[in-house]
Amino acid sequence: MKIAIGCDHGGIVLKEAVIKAVAELGFDYEDLGTYDTASVDYPDYAEKVADAVASGKADKGVLLCGTGIGISIAANKIDGIRCAHVTDAFSAQMAAEHNNANILAMGGRITSPEDAYEFTKIFLTTPFAGGRHATRVDKIMKLEKRNG
Ligand code: RB5
Repeated sequence: MKIAIGCDHGGIVLKEAVIKAVAELGFDYEDLGTYDTASVDYPDYAEKVADAVASGKADKGVLLCGTGIGISIAANKIDGIRCAHVTDAFSAQMAAEHNNANILAMGGRITSPEDAYEFTKIFLTTPFAGGRHATRVDKIMKLEKRNG
């Protein structure tokens, strides 16, 4: 399993904890930046990670910004992406189990590195339940085609 990781300057504080969680699970990862605290625009990193996941170069992704909100909104503009903005352990589990999310988004200004480590592990190890949830996820993905 390969995980694409991206962040802006507001989320970089969580990157080390996310990488630790991914590495401990034995997964490969690619760090697509940013690499320091200089101010950058979060849509650029959302696009890099979302493209990696949507193209199949990565199986899943983790995106980090100040709140997790902007970077998740941007990622969800890319066809094939289901990016879940998560602030608690139960949501991390449900994002995988019910929504089959393929990107986890968290915020460095609202979530601690310890929690980000835990949420990453939960998200990456919880299987999709399928069944009635698959029907609903299929309906989500059909919404992408609504405007042709
Ligand atoms: C950057 O200051 C901040 O707006 C960004 O990290 C994020 O919180 C946006 O949603």
